[in-house]
Amino acid sequence: MGELDGKTALVTGGSRGIGRAVALRLAAEGALVAVHYGGNEAAATQAVALITEAGGRAFAVRARFGERGAVDRLFEGLTAGLAEHGADGLDILVNNAGIHSISPIGKLTEEEFERLLAINVSAPLFVVQRALPLLRDGGRIINMGSAATRIAAPMQIGYTVSKAALAALGPSLAHELGRRGITANTIAAGVIRTDLTAGFGAVPEALAELEAMTALGRIGEPEDVADVVGFLAGPQGRWVTGQTIDVSGGTYLGPVTAG
Ligand SMILES: NC(=O)c1ccc[n+]([C@@H]2O[C@H](COP(=O)([O-])OP(=O)(O)OC[C@H]3O[C@@H](n4cnc5c(N)ncnc54)[C@H](OP(=O)(O)O)[C@@H]3O)[C@@H](O)[C@H]2O)c1
Repeated sequence: MGELDGKTALVTGGSRGIGRAVALRLAAEGALVAVHYGGNEAAATQAVALITEAGGRAFAVRARFGERGAVDRLFEGLTAGLAEHGADGLDILVNNAGIHSISPIGKLTEEEFERLLAINVSAPLFVVQRALPLLRDGGRIINMGSAATRIAAPMQIGYTVSKAALAALGPSLAHELGRRGITANTIAAGVIRTDLTAGFGAVPEALAELEAMTALGRIGEPEDVADVVGFLAGPQGRWVTGQTIDVSGGTYLGPVTAG
């Protein structure tokens, strides 16, 4: 018996990285998981296969955020997939899909910033709006923010502002939906080893610097985040709402001293 038996979940960007680990975690607890992706069908197919091979239930849904009509396409695919599996409502929504960009303030273009806002803020906001009629009482909304909103991370001003806007959804949603027993929280993840961070993760000096600045002495793995999502999504997370939870292994907690 898993603690999410009989529940359904939508994980946006569930095909790779953090989202994939979250999808696997929720499916392992018994949830039927809709694995959303933007364009990499092979990765989505592989994520679904990993879940089904482990005895779980999942299906893939494609919708490219930032394109007109993407949220409509997501919900058409979601409702069709749920129906195919004999389900019809949603219990857990994980707004995880997102993009990153590296630009100092002097180089950030309007186009780049609009794209960050479209994918990292507008898409999850309207996904929540579209999910509301499906979301059952007692449901969960979990948004994937970033520890960058606590730290002046270099050259990430556009990304940081987009994640701060996403985090701002949490208290409002929690307040508005609380009487239905629905919780809404944000995870502020530190640097996690995924394709998104593969660039600087491959530079030994950058990696060493990050490890030195992290209290627990390493960068994170997708499962470090997925376990916290699992907690918030499960019955034990019932009394946590409207919060941003730092999941960074204690990154940048204070000055780094030698020795
Ligand atoms: N990795 C980190 O260090 C870190 C730290 C803090 C926060 N986060 C946040 O955590 C989330 C996941 O990050 P990650 O590192 O796991 O990223 P990732 O490995 O690059 O995976 C991104 C996922 O989002 C989907 N996606 C990207 N752009 C999309 C679009 N326009 N429309 C629809 N789907 C799209 C991708 O699907 P396709 O491949 O099909 O496009 C993929 O499933 C993001 O919101 C990110 O900002 C990451």
